[in-house]
Amino acid sequence: MKTLKIATIPGDGVGKEIMPEAVRVLEKVAEVHGGLKFEFTEFPYSCDYYLEHGVMMPDDGLDRLSQFDSIFLGAVGDASKVPDHISLWGLLLKIRKEFQQEINIRPAKLFKGIEPKLSNRNPFDMVIVRENSEGEYSSIGGRIFHDDNEIAIQNNVFSKRATKQAMNIAFDLASKRKGLVTSATKSNGIFHAMPFWDEIFKEVSGQYPDIKTESKHIDALAAYFVTHPQDLDVVVASNLFGDILSDLGAAIMGSIGIAPSANLNLNGKYPSMFEPVHGSAPDIAGQGIANPIGQIWTAKMLLEFNGEEEIAEHLLKVIEDVTADGYQTGDLGGKYKMTEVTDEIIKRLGK
Ligand code: NAD
Ligand code: IPM
Ligand code: MN
Repeated sequence: MKTLKIATIPGDGVGKEIMPEAVRVLEKVAEVHGGLKFEFTEFPYSCDYYLEHGVMMPDDGLDRLSQFDSIFLGAVGDASKVPDHISLWGLLLKIRKEFQQEINIRPAKLFKGIEPKLSNRNPFDMVIVRENSEGEYSSIGGRIFHDDNEIAIQNNVFSKRATKQAMNIAFDLASKRKGLVTSATKSNGIFHAMPFWDEIFKEVSGQYPDIKTESKHIDALAAYFVTHPQDLDVVVASNLFGDILSDLGAAIMGSIGIAPSANLNLNGKYPSMFEPVHGSAPDIAGQGIANPIGQIWTAKMLLEFNGEEEIAEHLLKVIEDVTADGYQTGDLGGKYKMTEVTDEIIKRLGK
């Protein structure tokens, strides 16, 4: 029997609602397939935890999380209680950074049964590879002067190592897919970092003669996501560009409530972390109407990266079938509640 030890962090808002849904799905997956068992340990790290303890997680939080095979996270952030930069840098971004989760994989594809919110209705299937550790998300900088003279300086950091790594992952992925890598650049406007990004892209491309490549400025690429998503395969992007593109990828799928993501630790020293693309959705939290598919598709990625590809594919197929048959929450125009969508997925998983 293979046992996967999973640390769950439901977090805030809808994170607390959709996490139990995905856990019930994973329990069912284990029951149906046999030979696989999950041991879930829940951690209460969240904005409520901060209000009680003055920190987003205790001093030994990372140590404790490091003992698990994977971390499964809902969403973090409740700006009505804790400023976002405190809650996110104290938990989500801290885990990504300390656990060297330098790559973020974010698929986007059109499911049958979802009416795309696009002028162009061709089906698409792409993956965004987001550099997840540096770029625009550096803590280097500060604030100087006062009053009307105050200035905030935010330094972007692009290392050759991490940039190359993200690009290599993108090319490896493309070689197993449609064979195209699109680089998200802005070398016309961002003077140092983006010409550097382009040079590295060219260098890495040279190692993959069979893979087609293209570079698109991020502004034009954003438009292309809407007009030509079917022409994209793997998109490689810096941390911030990848963040923005992945919400756009989610939107063209039909809802940000469906999109999954995997923060991967590649050196095997720390666990990887799996979380949906969306946030804590305070506007709909507590009503039982959140779309659970983002978290459940994320569970599929957790299975995949823990070596259970076949089971993972089966789960994705069930998610797609349930969606195609109209079991959809309100964000997709459907009439079903969160738990009803999950119930249908569980029913169809079998046994
Ligand atoms: P958000 O993704 O939470 O919400 C954007 C919109 O999408 C809202 O209208 C929301 O109702 C909708 N939405 C999100 N998830 C949904 C779901 N499962 N089903 C149906 N609709 C859904 O983005 P935001 O409003 O910018 O952020 C809210 C909070 O979440 C902030 O504190 C932010 O920092 C945080 N956040 C956390 C994460 C994370 O933990 N991974 C990611 C993004 C944002
Ligand atoms: C995401 C989120 C985070 C990010 C925020 C909450 C820090 O938007 O995972 O997409 O910017 O990476
Ligand atoms: Mn985001």
